[in-house]
Amino acid sequence: MTRGTVAVTGAAGFIGRWVVKELLDRGYVVHGLDNLSNGSRRNVEEFSTSDQFTLEIGDICDEEVVDDLLHEDTDACIHLAAEIDVQESLDDPQSHFDANVVGTQNILEACRRTDTRLGLVGTCMVYDMVDSGDGIDESHPVKPASPYAGSKIGAENVAEGYYHGYDLPITFLRPFNTYGPYQKTGMAGGVVSIFTNRDLQGESLKIFGDGTQTRDLLYATDCARFIVDGTFSDDAVGEVFNAGTGTDISINDLAELIATDGTDIRHVEHHHPQSEVQKLRCDPSKANELLDWEPDVSLEEGVDHLRDWLRTQNRGD
Ligand SMILES: NC(=O)c1ccc[n+]([C@@H]2O[C@H](COP(=O)([O-])OP(=O)(O)OC[C@H]3O[C@@H](n4cnc5c(N)ncnc54)[C@H](O)[C@@H]3O)[C@@H](O)[C@H]2O)c1
Repeated sequence: MTRGTVAVTGAAGFIGRWVVKELLDRGYVVHGLDNLSNGSRRNVEEFSTSDQFTLEIGDICDEEVVDDLLHEDTDACIHLAAEIDVQESLDDPQSHFDANVVGTQNILEACRRTDTRLGLVGTCMVYDMVDSGDGIDESHPVKPASPYAGSKIGAENVAEGYYHGYDLPITFLRPFNTYGPYQKTGMAGGVVSIFTNRDLQGESLKIFGDGTQTRDLLYATDCARFIVDGTFSDDAVGEVFNAGTGTDISINDLAELIATDGTDIRHVEHHHPQSEVQKLRCDPSKANELLDWEPDVSLEEGVDHLRDWLRTQNRGD
């Protein structure tokens, strides 16, 4: 007996594979879609023998592909597929607009046609930085500082129109910076994964700018639980939720935490200082109160898990 069927876009990406795992663990049938532009079959190899999981290779910008993903009996769609690289968005804003806004519009139309509940995954990068110690709650002003952030808030705005205009059940989920196994460790990855991998390889940790910028770092399994809880909560429909730990750490301190004996830490010129968000600290009270969600994994534990996993990858396990 399954709990229902969920369509997941971006299923072969970093957060996508953790969302797929969370759903399968809860007993759902999962139909994933990914164009593999930044994801990989390897990320979901673990589920390939499950008769509860399928992966379709295709693009959310292709209406036919999206129509094939969603059916009348689909219980929910979790939409993660997106172009996510801030630097790439500065170099090629059109690609981010197409995937993140036009692609989301296709998902919304398919959800409207099939009357499917939607968990729309946004990002904390849409917020203006916060100076106070209280953190960023959902009423905090937005200030997209890159085409990536602009396209993500654009997608949310289009979706809000569907929520109000068609009463389509949508929850707006904004995780803060997420890290963990399966995240890329090159420039397209996140800072924790890049630093941890470089430390393991004996390479120096390069900090962009002065390193005083801060991040609230969320472990992948906590993020996936947040996304699944938020998507299925009836109380959450039409609401925006942030998820983070409630604590931020400067990139300088993060480098110190990750660097082991002998690893060099150096500062390099920032590629896009104008698109940097200087201080990001989440106020997760709303997710805590309405979704009964809170993070389980501390930064120290998360970095340890990631380090252990990267060791197995570097050995070729
Ligand atoms: N990683 C973070 O720290 C973080 C934080 C907050 C929000 N998010 C959001 O979470 C989502 C997933 O991010 P991620 O870090 O796992 O990135 P990711 O790149 O690993 O995952 C995105 C997936 O979408 C796929 N994709 C991209 N364009 C597509 C298209 N046109 N059609 C079909 N598939 C496409 C990619 O191949 C990739 O597998 C994104 O929406 C991102 O904005 C990420």
